[in-house]
Amino acid sequence: MARLSPPSLPLRDLPRGDASWFVRDRFGLFLHWGLYALPARHEWVRDREGISEEAYEKYFRRFDPDLYDPGAWADAAANAGMKYFVVTTKHHEGFCLWDSKHTEYKATNTPTGRDLLRPMLEAFRARDFRVGLYHSLIDWHHPHFVLDPHIGPYKSHPDRKKLNRGRNQAKYAAYLHAQVRELLTEFGRVDILWFDFSYPKPDGSGKGRSDWKSEELLRLVRELQPHALLNDRLDLPCGWDFKTFEQTQPREGVRVNGKPVVWEACQTFSGSWGYHRDEMTWRSVDDLLRTLVDCVSKGGNLLLNVGPTGRGEFDERVLARLSGIGEWMKRHSRSIYGCTQAPAEFACPRDARLTWNPEKKRLYVHLFAWPYKHLHLDGEAYVKRVEYAQLLHDASEVRLGLDAWHAKQVALSRKALVLTLPVVRPNATVPVVELFLK
Ligand code: GLC
Repeated sequence: MARLSPPSLPLRDLPRGDASWFVRDRFGLFLHWGLYALPARHEWVRDREGISEEAYEKYFRRFDPDLYDPGAWADAAANAGMKYFVVTTKHHEGFCLWDSKHTEYKATNTPTGRDLLRPMLEAFRARDFRVGLYHSLIDWHHPHFVLDPHIGPYKSHPDRKKLNRGRNQAKYAAYLHAQVRELLTEFGRVDILWFDFSYPKPDGSGKGRSDWKSEELLRLVRELQPHALLNDRLDLPCGWDFKTFEQTQPREGVRVNGKPVVWEACQTFSGSWGYHRDEMTWRSVDDLLRTLVDCVSKGGNLLLNVGPTGRGEFDERVLARLSGIGEWMKRHSRSIYGCTQAPAEFACPRDARLTWNPEKKRLYVHLFAWPYKHLHLDGEAYVKRVEYAQLLHDASEVRLGLDAWHAKQVALSRKALVLTLPVVRPNATVPVVELFLK
């Protein structure tokens, strides 16, 4: 006899996850760690080089991160000012960092012989991090995952059709759901679930909501951990909590159907997400901080990625950047945490970004280029509301207005507030002026 299921709410009416902490914390660590750390040439190496199941096995047999110390990772991230982290429980290669009941393709069966996820969650939680799990929808290892014609290791394989015989995507979806259930029931509180990704094509090829059974997956998350935030990559028109941008920055605050939404940009240091030994396109501390500021100035978050090495460490290029970011955050995090896009009445001066703390009523002007002597803040709002200004890094006063001699030389509009800055640019990666408003 068919069981009567309780009436289920339509997707758009399901309760949402809790974003209150997320929009305050603003800065997180993304971790991509799996077998691909060993080839060390991109986490898509199987796809890019068309590596067969058998040929990829050599990494599984040699995965042994003997220097793995999640406490050291969490310390480095905490010192950089990060407040949450999102780790790849499984990436597209299908390898699982935890001791899953549903597969043998997991860390416990490699030479390391242990669950790598659990101690990581413990270490980050012990340092007050919120916990996020990235879980790949794609799985190039699972025997029932239907091999795609345009992505994956077998995309150009002459026998792809033959290899697909007997594969049943629905069985893969059942595995996917079982693992998500396991992750959401056996690892304590999970604050973010980050699925990756869907690629439906108009001609019906590719994969999307019907291949993952996305709607059921979303309901499962809501049922097991209703507070958890869910990203937008399940190919569902609604029901998600935040939008993701990948290796790009939105041009302005993000809206969907005219309404502002919670969003996060995820960015790499050098292009690859997994550890990549030979990549030379590393971004500077200065550049990375500008990206963080840019996110917050548009009401969004930054999730900055690290690909740990096959021995289980953050390499020196990572550590140098995290510590540079931390140096700045130590004195400037006030312009990041609890901040968002400034109200429209405050026009952003040239070569700068504004962030705004609505509770404290403080406006932060991040100066990407240091102006000579005077910072012009256009608009009545500045004139009427700013009562005090200081450089954020050392709390030294910035005087409001300019002297008569200078005033005579520059065309002044009454609708601008002018601040007199020191001639020498402060020694901060991005100098910030803190404005106290009435
Ligand atoms: C992509 C990639 C990937 C990375 C991710 C991060 O979809 O497939 O390797 O994990 O996005 O946003």
